[in-house]
Amino acid sequence: MSGKPKVVVFCCNWSVYPGLQLSRMLDDGIDATVEPIVTMCSGRVSPELVVEAFSRGAWGVMVTGCPPEECDHDGNYSARRRMTLLRNTLEQLGISPERIAMDWFSAGESAELKSAVSEFTEQISQLGPMKSVQELA
Ligand code: FES
Repeated sequence: MSGKPKVVVFCCNWSVYPGLQLSRMLDDGIDATVEPIVTMCSGRVSPELVVEAFSRGAWGVMVTGCPPEECDHDGNYSARRRMTLLRNTLEQLGISPERIAMDWFSAGESAELKSAVSEFTEQISQLGPMKSVQELA
């Protein structure tokens, strides 16, 4: 393994991003680069964006959105379906599907969010950097 793990977290502006700010995870002892990318709904996170994150050096990508009853667009369900398909596709390419996580949090669940990101980062650290980025680009 080389370098510090880099994790991209796509955050819904209406739920997770405030929680992300509250959790102050970026300067709270996680030995990794955690890069939040704010979206207007998790349903706007396309598989192409996730692959782009990997091609730019991410070791893992987490997509976070509002809980089911809190997304006005059912985008969170759409995101979950897309990430499930993408995980399956990555597995077919010989890439661990564990590099993609999908979860839902309310704005008040900053502790849960922080814990999930920490767990995911630890898991990604065990996997190491992507070795097949060129295959995805
Ligand atoms: Fe937050 Fe859709 S509005 S996930």
